[in-house]
Amino acid sequence: MNDNTVIISEIKRLIGGRQPLAFVRSFGCQLNTSDGEKIKGLLRKMGYGFTEDEAQADLIILNTCAVRENAEDRVFGIVGSMKKLKELRPDLMIGIAGCMTAQSHIAEKIKKSYPQVDFVLGTSAINGLPRLLLDCLNGAKFSADIAEYDDFSAEAEQVRESSFKASVPIMFGCNNFCTYCIVPYVRGRERSRRPEDIISEVEGLVRSGYKEIMLLGQNVNSYGSDLGGEMSFPQLLRRLNAIDGDFWIRFMSSHPKDASVELIDAIFDCDKVAKHLHLPVQSGSDEILRRMNRRYTAEKYLGIVDEIRRRGPDFSLTTDIIVGFPDETEEDFAATLAIMERVKYDNIYSFIYSKRTGTKAAEMPDAVSEEEKGARMRRLLELQREISTEHYKRFIGRRMRVLADDVSKKRKGYVSGKSSEFIIVEFEGDSSLIGQFVDVEITEAMNWAVRGRRVKV
Ligand code: SAH
Ligand code: SF4
Ligand code: F3S
Repeated sequence: MNDNTVIISEIKRLIGGRQPLAFVRSFGCQLNTSDGEKIKGLLRKMGYGFTEDEAQADLIILNTCAVRENAEDRVFGIVGSMKKLKELRPDLMIGIAGCMTAQSHIAEKIKKSYPQVDFVLGTSAINGLPRLLLDCLNGAKFSADIAEYDDFSAEAEQVRESSFKASVPIMFGCNNFCTYCIVPYVRGRERSRRPEDIISEVEGLVRSGYKEIMLLGQNVNSYGSDLGGEMSFPQLLRRLNAIDGDFWIRFMSSHPKDASVELIDAIFDCDKVAKHLHLPVQSGSDEILRRMNRRYTAEKYLGIVDEIRRRGPDFSLTTDIIVGFPDETEEDFAATLAIMERVKYDNIYSFIYSKRTGTKAAEMPDAVSEEEKGARMRRLLELQREISTEHYKRFIGRRMRVLADDVSKKRKGYVSGKSSEFIIVEFEGDSSLIGQFVDVEITEAMNWAVRGRRVKV
């Protein structure tokens, strides 16, 4: 732990009277967004306010993602466009944080080709931010801190984006080394937070009125494997479910290889745990799954799905799918379409394979053209649209509990939210309902959402 108190008061002195404004933008997964909230927490302590307008900002931090090439390209595009901003206002400070900073070739590229960047902040060095800012304020040309000193288990001060939905990381890193994936290289090995730290954070959030707690990890269901048997993920779910209050517990992502009967038991036993599981399948082909190092077969995956459907026929499943993994044949792809039809996902998040330097798959030969990959993606999305349209009809005539989270952008006078099953639900109402649980009787199903009317209980 480093004590930032002295540095923070020095920064406040240098900044002077006017409150400086920071623009912080997070890319990538919810874990990264959660880190962004911690960065903001530290900035608030230093006296910063926040702005959504880069042109107004005294400090810009881009909290980056490295999972696919287009995520990185976007960041480089944005940093490139900031050159002008910096020329106009040389005292503007620009920092790059997040997963991109953990790849040495990227860190080098930033340093060499983007002189407008003042500092680089590593994913486990968030607490090093005050020191970096102080260096910049004192005139340093470029500073970087990619050390690892964050106390990952303790609750950090955060500026949370929502007043009713909260993300709570329960573990960091990943041990799985799926051959396509950069995450284990940029986030390190799995580290589980102490159960008592998680429990007290969730208790505090529920006391402050949070209605949805999202437990986060790259592989949440292997939570506790480094805690010597003290607490497993299903046990943690049961412990959190016992906290008094009206709230939901969600979690993601779960790895099929660790989806145990104990986990399914806990989901169905715990009334506060949402009736939805995000279970990334990636591919329906055993050969591709083997080359991805996923450590399950389509049959094993379907065994989990069948067990869930046996207990809750309406239970909702969503997934991640990669299209065009190196040398994916038409037959492999057909197996992916087949598993989608068999499982009937409520939603899928699909990605065209992106080569990541340093991963095993980056060395694999790939004869499939980009055109073919694009065509497969379109076929996959078309199939999912058909499945969702058909599958969402099961909710017509049912009553769903919904956490209202926004006024509808598509329909005036309507509010939208997510049901326990993670389905988007629209209903008539106004902004006063946002952040509340509402019961909705479903009257109509579309391919992206369902609609209904509010009912009083
Ligand atoms: N830890 C989570 C997800 C991590 S990244 C899990 O295992 O489920 C989120 C998704 O991005 C992955 O599930 C995968 O579908 C996709 N993804 C990861 N690396 C990718 C790559 N190189 N190309 C395309 N998609 C990728
Ligand atoms: Fe990446 Fe696989 Fe780990 Fe998920 S489980 S973060 S896909 S290596
Ligand atoms: Fe991206 Fe890092 Fe998350 S690579 S998906 S932001 S862990």
